[in-house]
Amino acid sequence: MANVKPTLIQSYPMIGGDGPHSYLRNSTYQKAAIESVRAKTKEAILAKLNLQTPKFDLNLYKIADFGCSVGSNTFDAVQNIVETVKLKHQREKSKGKNQTHLEFQIFFNDQSNNDFNTLFKTLPPYYLDHQIFACGVPGSFYRRLFPKKSLHIGHASNALVWLSTTPKDICNRNTQAWNKNNILCTNLVDEVEKAYKKQFKKDMGAFIEARAQELLPGGLMIILGLCLPDGVQMIRTWKGVFYDMIGDCLIDMAESGIIKEEKLESFNLPLYFPRFSELKEVIELNGCFSVEIMEEVKHPMEDMPLSDGFIASMHRAAIHGVIEEHFGGGIIDELFDRFSKKSTRDHSIYSKASQKDMQYFILLKRKID
Ligand SMILES: C[S@@+](CC[C@H](N)C(=O)[O-])C[C@H]1O[C@@H](n2cnc3c(N)ncnc32)[C@H](O)[C@@H]1O
Repeated sequence: MANVKPTLIQSYPMIGGDGPHSYLRNSTYQKAAIESVRAKTKEAILAKLNLQTPKFDLNLYKIADFGCSVGSNTFDAVQNIVETVKLKHQREKSKGKNQTHLEFQIFFNDQSNNDFNTLFKTLPPYYLDHQIFACGVPGSFYRRLFPKKSLHIGHASNALVWLSTTPKDICNRNTQAWNKNNILCTNLVDEVEKAYKKQFKKDMGAFIEARAQELLPGGLMIILGLCLPDGVQMIRTWKGVFYDMIGDCLIDMAESGIIKEEKLESFNLPLYFPRFSELKEVIELNGCFSVEIMEEVKHPMEDMPLSDGFIASMHRAAIHGVIEEHFGGGIIDELFDRFSKKSTRDHSIYSKASQKDMQYFILLKRKID
């Protein structure tokens, strides 16, 4: 067998378990996002899932949630899909068609170091009713995870801002793309933005291509996530302000000798908020899907002034892993203590943000080839 080097994929799952800092207890923002598209998802499936599609096995539906993490968010999203497929069948049944007993196989995907144990321990009771069968699928969604043409519906929420890796040049002080003391793409330096954009295009292209192979012709892919409206700069949004403040706290910690200067210089988050048009371009480039819906959906908490504490807890559950991996264990409490003092001293995150990011909802349908 040829000696093929596997692609190195960085993996930083959310904090597992059900402790005070866990994703399970700190993901109400993401939960609200899923809730905000519940009705839209239902309508979309009812309208776009065609039960007459050739090669669909109408007894067994295979549904995957990509980047499921831990907690009830993934169960909420999947349950809505399952209920809607059942409803669609009931409606067709009343027209005398598709009189089948439905079964569902649900694939929960995340990186292999996700806390699948907690996920399965908290599986809702309806998974025991012999109609819905759950399994875990470990691995990066930036590659193939399922056999060709095997899935009916794919779903991904709040997961695609995570890149497979941090663009290398932005961590290297000898390149023009070096991101100095910033820790993600702020959209202020062209070279940095180009490097992030290139990585995003590669990753998102790989995600779409893998799903194009796995979904049955006529199958649906639902994507919910965050991006920036065209022309908006990350640094001007409240999430950008938050990360900027975390970056400042890391600088303070380097100056106090708590972390090493070189470590800070080489640190960047593998997170990228694409512009809406970039996202559209990558999806369309693939050509295997028809874009049935691609639109902005208001996040229910968009106009609520979230407290700095809430914002910090929500992000802590997400970036804990990546911070500890780079700087070593034991700095996260100090970092967030400093953040808390800083945000109390300075004006609140919201007062510094002048532009808004954007939540998008996408429904793709695999073309019949
Ligand atoms: C913010 S959580 C979203 C969880 C859930 N979908 C929700 O909406 O609440 C993002 C999840 O995506 C996962 N993730 C990030 N990159 C991934 C990749 N390349 N492959 C699989 N999962 C990934 C993370 O491990 C994390 O659990």
